Amino acid sequence: MKKYDFNQVIDRKNTFSFKWDNVNYADKDMLPMPVADMDFPIADEILAAIDQITNHKILGYSIVPESLQIAAQQKIKEDYAWDTDLAWQVWIPGIVPGITAACAAFSSPEDGILTAVPVYHPFHLVAGWLGHPLHTFPMIEESGRWTFDFVAFENALKKGPKVFLFCNPHNPGGTVFSAEEIHRIKVLCKQYDCTIISDEIHADLIIDPEVKHTCIQSEISFFATSKAYNTAGLGGAVAIIPDAATRLAFQKKTFGFFPMLSRHSIEVMLATYAMSSDWMDSLLPYLRSNHALLLNRMNQLPGISMLPLEATYLAWIGFDSKLHGDFQKRLFDAGLHVLRGDQFLGGDFVRLNFACPEVQLRKAIEIIEGVVHASH
Ligand SMILES: Cc1ncc(COP(=O)(O)O)c(C=O)c1O
Repeated sequence: MKKYDFNQVIDRKNTFSFKWDNVNYADKDMLPMPVADMDFPIADEILAAIDQITNHKILGYSIVPESLQIAAQQKIKEDYAWDTDLAWQVWIPGIVPGITAACAAFSSPEDGILTAVPVYHPFHLVAGWLGHPLHTFPMIEESGRWTFDFVAFENALKKGPKVFLFCNPHNPGGTVFSAEEIHRIKVLCKQYDCTIISDEIHADLIIDPEVKHTCIQSEISFFATSKAYNTAGLGGAVAIIPDAATRLAFQKKTFGFFPMLSRHSIEVMLATYAMSSDWMDSLLPYLRSNHALLLNRMNQLPGISMLPLEATYLAWIGFDSKLHGDFQKRLFDAGLHVLRGDQFLGGDFVRLNFACPEVQLRKAIEIIEGVVHASH
């Protein structure tokens, strides 16, 4: 078994990285922890797939081969216990455009889109992009984790949204919804005739080894290997849509809008589905260790609180009124870029991506500690 070394710091500057080459950092020595990609090298099998294309020397339009369809089908069955049909698959360049197309197909300016907040920003922004009403209800803290306020959820469903955008596991906050919670969500959405559009991109990034991801098996469910295997940006995801009419309605919103998948994304996804578990077996313990370090240090700070994540590498860190004002900006001025809670409709929080070498995380923690101590 190969063990990957995620302590290795690889310079990502000048690679057109959205994270590292942000124009706002131009003359600054910044530690960036915003957007969700990892500062870790990808698996050898993926590198080999890319090398193979390079050596072949030709690109061009590509088809999604049956081998990729079968690989995705097998993973969904083995890892998420959902037995799906190949005909249910629609391959798309990314989940965000998939969500927009699904909302365009099933919501309308009369009814609108429902989501729990705080949430990954495209989930709430999509309403504005399409000109449809946005309905929200809050995530609440219960028994040391973030979950739905089910009373508020039902009240929001009563307003008649036709689409519920479900982030499963949840970003930010890292909730892995239990089988009971998933059942409750399904029952309520059925009762109020609301289509569930589920995004399961974080399903493999399980931080709490005691919990298990439950796939909601909804009308439209999105899966991708890009987040867990650090190939975000390359494109490639699959929508599983069991009902033929629903599938066609979705596809109609993609025709002419979605590009074909690139050869790179197809070969990389194939390699990802086929690869050994070595990379993931190195990644998860590393992320868990970073998570434990961050959680411990944050919860020792006055005015700062963080709940343990069940999944994702995106910490959701709360700050109290003493640190109010512009905590995110003070961190930024001190050299750490994290995202503002407002971006997720989340208020007095920041979101920090800890998928980085431990030495970088320690530096980020020191910056936060310095800013907090200076604010008291
Ligand atoms: C919940 C969620 N869905 C989708 C994405 C992005 O997916 P894609 O790059 O396939 O559009 C992200 C990226 O952070 C995410 O957190």
